[in-house]
Amino acid sequence: AEIVHIVGARPNFVKAAPVVAALEARGLRQSVVHTGQHYDDRMSAVFFRELGLPRPDVDLGVGSGSHAEQTAALMTGLEREFIERSPGLVVVYGDVNSTLAAGMVAAKLHIPVAHVEAGLRSFDWSMPEEVNRRLTDQLADVCFATSPEAVGHLAAEGVAVDRVHLVGNPMIDTLLARLDRFDTAALRERLDLPGSYVAATLHRPANVDDPETVARLVARLHEVADQIDVVMPVHPRGRASLDAAGLAEHPRMHLLEPLGYIDFVALVRGATAVVTDSGGVQEETTMLGVPCLTLRPNTERPITITHGSNRLVTDSELPGLVSKILAGAGTDTAALAAVPPMWDGGAGERIATVLADWTSGVPA
Ligand code: UD1
Ligand code: UDP
Repeated sequence: AEIVHIVGARPNFVKAAPVVAALEARGLRQSVVHTGQHYDDRMSAVFFRELGLPRPDVDLGVGSGSHAEQTAALMTGLEREFIERSPGLVVVYGDVNSTLAAGMVAAKLHIPVAHVEAGLRSFDWSMPEEVNRRLTDQLADVCFATSPEAVGHLAAEGVAVDRVHLVGNPMIDTLLARLDRFDTAALRERLDLPGSYVAATLHRPANVDDPETVARLVARLHEVADQIDVVMPVHPRGRASLDAAGLAEHPRMHLLEPLGYIDFVALVRGATAVVTDSGGVQEETTMLGVPCLTLRPNTERPITITHGSNRLVTDSELPGLVSKILAGAGTDTAALAAVPPMWDGGAGERIATVLADWTSGVPA
């Protein structure tokens, strides 16, 4: 039976690429369904071009909307698609609305679901992603975890241990496979960027949706820019609110369109530090050993703090921490220069091994 991968948003593409490649190498029948949750070239097509993902077999073109509107459109489109394709297994990635919608539709059609990046928990139900993660894990027949604590969360929530596989991190597979392509010097020249800089990204609703919060964050980013240039590829979600708060109005703020994957990781690799609220960027900075200041009160990826270069910060701490980093004093993170277990480039292979057993009718 066919394996159908559901992808829709930027981080999904980065996670799916190594899984699709590993299954392809085994000659398994598969297809990729793009929900169209993200649709700008810079949020979607560029990743297919750069990551060797096959062109989606179908793009449902769901687009943007409120949570209910988007989820309803996702479910309607996916149901039609699943009935037509009758897949033997549906693979979903991460914690976006496309992930949960596909899980719900598949479960009700009695199609088995595999969840890649299961078990992450921020324990913050105000995040839409936490809702998506928790529910998807309950629906999934197979849960692929990226870290030991994720396995623990699944066990604590009553997910049967034989459904859980610790496989490492496919987003890190994608990174490690392209290390020789992240050329910071070439990027700097092409985009006319300063020699040293802080790279920043923001897109969480808690940071970019409320104008008062945005105004505060912009003031703090300007205090950072007083010390060092700040390069910020702006996610479409924050574009209007950050513009309205005058983010560009500092001579050392460099605002860019969202970057393709290769350019973005090259930017991060060459940064003095990264300021972010992204999930994936916390992991990529850990792998690259770049100090990461995460503008959030919590993280579903604590291994990036215990093993990596990540630190949770409030906006008021931000300028002071950047000056400490510039003074060579580090970030006070428990940076062990240790890599989280199994973040070794082999996650896609491990996932493919389990899925190959599944589709041959032998649940692993
Ligand atoms: C989504 C995910 C979030 C993930 C992020 C990755 C949910 C609930 N959220 O957030 O977990 O971290 O993707 O980037 O699934 N827009 C465009 N062009 C696009 C896509 C979006 O302009 O190609 C704009 C639209 O105005 C849209 C807004 O961005 O309303 C938000 O898009 P949406 O997909 O709803 O959520 P994200 O904030 O991107
Ligand atoms: N990314 C990118 N271009 C950018 C910003 C991010 O290619 O301008 C990549 C980043 O390297 C990571 C992924 O997008 O692989 C993370 O996606 P995002 O931050 O949108 O979502 P999250 O991880 O928070 O769900």
